This record gives sequence, structure tokens and C-alpha cells, in this order.
Amino acid sequence: MKKIIIAIDGPAASGKSTTAKLLARKIGYVHLDTGAMYRACALAAKRHQTNIDDPSQIMKIMSDIKIDIQYSNNGNLIFLDGEDVSEEIREPDISRLASAISAKRHVREKMVELQRELGKSGGVIVDGRDIGTVVFPNAELKFFMIAPLEIRAQRRYQELLANNKKANFQEVLRELKERDLADSSRVLAPLVPAKDAIQIDTGDLSIDEQVDLLYGYYQNLMVGS
Ligand code: CDP
Repeated sequence: MKKIIIAIDGPAASGKSTTAKLLARKIGYVHLDTGAMYRACALAAKRHQTNIDDPSQIMKIMSDIKIDIQYSNNGNLIFLDGEDVSEEIREPDISRLASAISAKRHVREKMVELQRELGKSGGVIVDGRDIGTVVFPNAELKFFMIAPLEIRAQRRYQELLANNKKANFQEVLRELKERDLADSSRVLAPLVPAKDAIQIDTGDLSIDEQVDLLYGYYQNLMVGS
């Protein structure tokens, strides 16, 4: 059967990564978490004390670092210069820095190139902000996931607690709001639905329902092809 590209875009904590991971397992595809790649760039910038508003410093760090992805049954493992940083990149300060650094041209150019390389043979579910619009505009199936801010904040808050991280609900809410605004209003690859994306509101859906809904669209497409 033909191996397609499935793009899932949407705002922070809308359920993209969890859905993409489970859907990939169900179909037998791999899941590529592009947010994790921008998070790894942010971690590198933090460690090297890069001034991200200085283009020459951004260029230097982007040519110095190496980011690798390994697919595992439990999600992507992200390596920065050979070190597994999959846990560390989930810290809230890295979320903020990822949003800031991902607005920089050199960062996006390098990451988009890597993402296209990783996804070029198909059989992949790619989640992010600009997958259906910029990275894979010809993806056969595109979703745009949304959910009310309060619900997304509640999910992210619970996720942080479950991972034994300190969290304050109001802070999580504020951080998501600021990041959504920054991601949607930036000049380069802003968070906007592709014209041909199927919008999914996950506000009232369980994870299983989300996965089943997307799987249904996938099956319909494959039957018709
Ligand atoms: O998991 P969460 O939804 O909080 O965020 P993420 O998907 O890990 O992405 C972290 C940040 O990376 C986002 O706030 C975006 O600014 C940026 N990003 C991007 O610019 N383009 C992508 N394709 C994916 C993420």
C-alpha cells in the first residue's frame, strides 16, 4: 500500500504529539515530532548562552550543533550532539525559548531541510506548526488540531505533574497563551491552517476518540486511492 505523509498542525498542547504517536503505531508509520527539534535548538542556545537576536550567533550555533532523532515506540528520542535530551527539552523555559528561536530564519531553514529529508519516503506522521503549509505542502492528508485554551492548559498542567515537574496552572495558561500568540503572529511560517487541512476540535474528545477520528480519515483516503 502507498505510504503517505500525514501532517498534523495546531497550537501548543492541542494533542498533536500524543495523537500522532498513537496513530503512527496503529498504521505502522513513524512519528516525527518537529517541535522536539526546535526544543533541542533552544536547549543548545541556552547551553551556549547564545544571543538569539544576533544572526551571526544563531548561524554559528546552527552550524555547530547536531540534532538526531531516533524513533521509539514511546515517542521520539532527541539527541543533541550525541546526548539524549528528550527529557530536558520538555522544561517550560525551553518551551518559551523554542518559540522564540523557531522564529529565526537560519533555524527554520536547517530544521525544515532535516524534516523534509526524514519524511521524504512517506510512511510518516509529522506534527508541528507549519507542516501542511511549508514543510510538506503536498502531504496527502492534513489535520489542524484545536482545543479551547483552558482545556489545553489543563492538559499541559496534568502532563507536567505526571512527570513530577513543578507546575502552576495560571503560569501554564499564561505561557500557552503567549506562545500561541508568538507562533501565530510571526512572519516566518506562522501557525495557520493549510487551506486543505481538516480541522479537528479535540476539546471534547478523549485520546482514543481523537486517534479513531483521524484513523477514519486515513482509511477513507486509502480506500479511495
Ligand atoms: O508540545 P507543544 O505543543 O507545547 O510544543 P512543541 O510542538 O514541542 O513546539 C515547541 C515550539 O516550537 C512551538 O511553540 C513553536 O514555536 C515551535 N515549532 C515551530 O515553530 N514549528 C514546528 N513545526 C514545530 C514547533
